[in-house]
Amino acid sequence: MILALLQETAARALTFPGAHSVLRPHGPQALRIHELWRFLWIVALVVWVLVVAALLWGAFRRHGPEDGGERSGGGPGMHRAVVGATALTVVVLVVFLVFDFSTGRALTMAPGGELHVQVTGHQWWWEVEYPHPEPYKRATTANEIHVPVGVPVVVELQAADVIHSFWAPSLTGKRDLIPRVRSSLWFQADTPGVYRGQCAEFCGYQHAKMGFQIIAEPRAQFEAWLARQRDSARTPADTLARRGRQVFLASSCPLCHTIAGTMAGGNVGPDLTHLASRRTLAAGTLPNTRGNLAGWIVDPQRIKPGVIMPANQLAPRDLQALLAYLETLE
Ligand code: CUA
Repeated sequence: MILALLQETAARALTFPGAHSVLRPHGPQALRIHELWRFLWIVALVVWVLVVAALLWGAFRRHGPEDGGERSGGGPGMHRAVVGATALTVVVLVVFLVFDFSTGRALTMAPGGELHVQVTGHQWWWEVEYPHPEPYKRATTANEIHVPVGVPVVVELQAADVIHSFWAPSLTGKRDLIPRVRSSLWFQADTPGVYRGQCAEFCGYQHAKMGFQIIAEPRAQFEAWLARQRDSARTPADTLARRGRQVFLASSCPLCHTIAGTMAGGNVGPDLTHLASRRTLAAGTLPNTRGNLAGWIVDPQRIKPGVIMPANQLAPRDLQALLAYLETLE
């Protein structure tokens, strides 16, 4: 009862809307990690109480009037207590070890029938790909991973530059992304929702602004989203947006960014084919609004100092046209 209350208080204190929290598991693996954590916590609490009780008992005994001649504390009773405490410590540590191993094993074994997603860590954003046997049907997005609810998802991880670490605490544990090494993990979201994730390995100046979102939605909704993401970008009908398309293609943007269906095929920065469908900009740094997008294009170094993207001095009319075009990329 008291434990449950303490745990709830801790969960409330550490959780604000949209936050990630190991104390609020929403998938089988996060649940197992949570169970392990709770077990360690309870045992540690019991051990602490016992140690403090023994300490107090010892202190009062030493100074008590009935403490006879055995002041140095070396009698057979004390020896038994020392041996007993050591044995108990060993037993507790072995139980911890077994529980930890069994949790680790359970986390690594995917149940099958899963969805595969490829995630590449860059300084400082996440490239997300949904593979397809036909290359032109691969869907590429950034900083958000859409998944169907209740389906195991295998995430294949790699790093493009330095070591990053993939961590979505409400769904699963951490896994490092190491250059030239492929690794993977799997998770499953049991309830629909948006789960925040974060790079959990220091990877440079903007490590803290390397977030992502996992969006768990019903199967039909997910399939519809994925079908849209597999499409190329359409040429806009609107005159202003058409002009924006020309601005984009005539500037340095295509050297770094891809928009499927156009000449832009750069692979330094995020794929922009469906930019307008995303919830955030700059790896979870800003909500994806027109004003934020404008600020980001004009002076990204002010928002996220150190990013590769340079400032873009565009004439106001060109900027408006470019924004109109980017907003058609749904
Ligand atoms: Cu990527 Cu820290």
